Amino acid sequence: MTGTSAPGGRGTAPAGGLGATFALTDRTALVTGAAGGLGRAFAVALAAAGADVVLTDRPGVDLTATSALVEATGRTSWIRPFDLADTAGLAGYVDELRADVGPLHILVNNAGTAALERFNEVTVASWRRVLAVNLDAVFFLSQRIAEHMIADRVPGRIIAVTSKNAHVAEAGLAHYNASKAGVDLLVQSLAVELAPHDITVNAVAPGMVETPIDGEFPLDREPFEAAYRERIPLGRYADPNECAGAVVFLASPAASYVTGTRIVVDGGVLADQMPRMRYMPPYRNSL
Ligand SMILES: NC(=O)c1ccc[n+]([C@@H]2O[C@H](COP(=O)([O-])OP(=O)(O)OC[C@H]3O[C@@H](n4cnc5c(N)ncnc54)[C@H](O)[C@@H]3O)[C@@H](O)[C@H]2O)c1
Repeated sequence: MTGTSAPGGRGTAPAGGLGATFALTDRTALVTGAAGGLGRAFAVALAAAGADVVLTDRPGVDLTATSALVEATGRTSWIRPFDLADTAGLAGYVDELRADVGPLHILVNNAGTAALERFNEVTVASWRRVLAVNLDAVFFLSQRIAEHMIADRVPGRIIAVTSKNAHVAEAGLAHYNASKAGVDLLVQSLAVELAPHDITVNAVAPGMVETPIDGEFPLDREPFEAAYRERIPLGRYADPNECAGAVVFLASPAASYVTGTRIVVDGGVLADQMPRMRYMPPYRNSL
């Protein structure tokens, strides 16, 4: 059975051929952190798949470059800044957005922040800032948008950008690691509660991506990055565009039966607990 609700089930299986199931025509997406490295790539990829896109980031951050790239695909973009650390203001922000742009079909919780601090350097302020943006905002933004999706009777897609750090810790990032692990379980919780409303909730967990997110970290950067590249089975950081396919897939009708899970896009880092290959003798057989 395609294009119809399964008997006794919830939701709608997509109709049409495979190409059609990846199309986001007639959808409106909201992308947070849309001025950043990954956010821009996600916004443009969603637009290229047919969605109109609301772009948000902190007030004062320039979203015009992302907007121009979205509009170059022929889709509409709206620039609607908001400070996601203002947890109490999130519901009002979403209500205004809904009134302004119409029903929202896709939410990409991408904005994120981090600080590199040893456990005893973490302050209440830095803990609160990281948790407010990376975890609190993901929940309360998703909560209000899901309420609108239900009222608008749209098959919703909520995607959270987590990290490999949701699954394996990294020193100096206790707050960041905790926030991303929190979102990973939040995704499961929301997926179960929102399934009756035909709203799917999933995570995309990137590995190391070439973006400005840790640009201010007090770190001996060159040797760190060289050592990290050695740790990555694919041998390099990702280009942000290499994470966008997972977001477009989860946003699309092709992912209608995917919920409560995650797609890890990390070049194999989480698959390899120790780069043993480097310490093994040369191949005994030719490839
Ligand atoms: N770059 C990586 O290696 C990497 C790896 C794993 C996960 N991630 C995650 O990907 C997401 C995107 O990060 P990125 O690498 O593109 O970094 P980035 O710094 O380029 O983008 C993050 C964006 O979030 C916005 N933001 C931060 N605080 C905000 C606030 N209070 N209100 C509104 N917007 C706010 C920033 O202004 C920025 O535009 C983050 O959630 C990050 O944790 C990144």
